[in-house]
Amino acid sequence: MAPSSNFVHIMVVLSLVLILGVIVPKGEARRRAFFVFGDSLVDNGNNNYLLTTARADSPPYGIDYPTRKPTGQQLGTVSTLPYLSPELKGRKLLIGANFGSAGIGILNDTGVQFINVVKMHTQLDYFEEYQQRLTTLIGGSRTRRLVNKALFLMTVGGNDFVNNYYLVPSSSRSRQYPLPHYVKFLICEYRKHLQRLYDLGARRVLVTGTGPLGCAPAELATRSTNGECSMELQRGAALYNPQLEQMLQRLNRKLGSDIFIAANTAQMHKDFVTNPTAYGFVTSKVACCGQGPYNGIGVCTTLSNLCPNRDLYVFWDPFHPSEKANRLIVEQIMSGSTRYMKPMNLSTILLLDAST
Ligand SMILES: *[C@@H]1O[C@H](CO)[C@@H](O)[C@H](O)[C@H]1NC(C)=O
Ligand SMILES: *[C@@H]1O[C@H](CO)[C@@H](O)[C@H](O)[C@H]1NC(C)=O
Repeated sequence: MAPSSNFVHIMVVLSLVLILGVIVPKGEARRRAFFVFGDSLVDNGNNNYLLTTARADSPPYGIDYPTRKPTGQQLGTVSTLPYLSPELKGRKLLIGANFGSAGIGILNDTGVQFINVVKMHTQLDYFEEYQQRLTTLIGGSRTRRLVNKALFLMTVGGNDFVNNYYLVPSSSRSRQYPLPHYVKFLICEYRKHLQRLYDLGARRVLVTGTGPLGCAPAELATRSTNGECSMELQRGAALYNPQLEQMLQRLNRKLGSDIFIAANTAQMHKDFVTNPTAYGFVTSKVACCGQGPYNGIGVCTTLSNLCPNRDLYVFWDPFHPSEKANRLIVEQIMSGSTRYMKPMNLSTILLLDAST
C-alpha cells in the first residue's frame, strides 16, 4: 500500500503558488520578483523536465486550469516559470522562478525513491546559478536589488515524514531517531537551508508548516481503522510545526529583522478538518478524486471517482488540498491574525515594504 499512496503524494495539483503568484504581483504597484522553493505543494512543472516518476502531466490533474488540459505548468506565463523550463530566459528571468520539485524534503534522503527529483540543496544551487544568469543580463547590483526586494515562498517538510520516516515500518531514519529527536534534526537542517537562502540575498520569506499529515484521505484509507486521523503522523506534525515557528523566530532575532514569516498552515487545515461545513465543505475526509475508502487509495486518474463539485471538498486527491482550500489558505496568509501568521500577515508585509 505504501508505494501507491506515496506516488500520489508527489503528484502536482493546483497549489498555493498558483494563487499567491497571481495575487502578490497584482496587488503591488511596484514590480516584485517571486521565488518558490519546496515540494509538490509548490512544484509547478520542474519534474516534467526530468526523467522521474514524480510528475503530474496526465489527466485529470489540470482539470482546474483554464484550458482544462494538464500542462504540468500551472503558472504559465502569468507568473513564475519552473526553473527548468527552456522558456525561462531573457527578460522572463526578472519575474522570478519556481525551483520546487515534487517528492523532495528537508533531508537529502527524502524522496530518493523518486529518481531525478531536485533536492532542496540543489534548488538552492540553482538559485545561485539563476543569479549568475541574471547578472549577465542586468548586472550584479541590479540582480542583488531584485533578489533583496523579492518575495520568497518555502514549502517543505511534510515529505520528511510521509516519504521518509513513515515511508515503511521501521524505516532507517525511524531506527536512527525516536520521533522527537528526528524532529529536532529536521528543524536543525531546515535552519541551514534558510540561512543559506538569506546568505543568497532573500529578505522576505514566507515559510509554511505542514498540514495535519495524519488527516489526509490517503492516511485515513491506509492507517486508520475508524476514520480518525493517524495518530503517529499527527504526532509528527504536532511536534514539528511549533518548533518550526520557534526556529524562525530565533533566526529573525539573530538576523535582526523579520525575514522569515511563519504561515501556520497546520492550524488553517485543522480548522477545515474540525469544522468543514463552516467553510462550505461537505467533508474533509473524502478526496474529490481517487478510489477506495475515502477515495484515499492510489492516484487520481481518468478511471477514478471524480466528485461533481470540487469546491465542496477539502482534499482534491488523497494528499493535496483542493483549489478552494488553497484559496482559503491564501486568504489567511494575506490577512489572517497572528494565530495564523507570525510575526504578521502578508498584506501587512507588502504594505511595510511598499513604504520603504
Ligand atoms: C546533501 O547533499 C549535498 C550535495 O550532495 C551535500 O553537499 C550536503 O552536505 C548534504 N547534506 C547533508 C545534511 O548531508
Ligand atoms: C492583517 O493585515 C491587515 C492589513 O495590514 C491588518 O489590517 C490586519 O489587522 C491584519 N489582520 C489581523 C487579523 O491581524
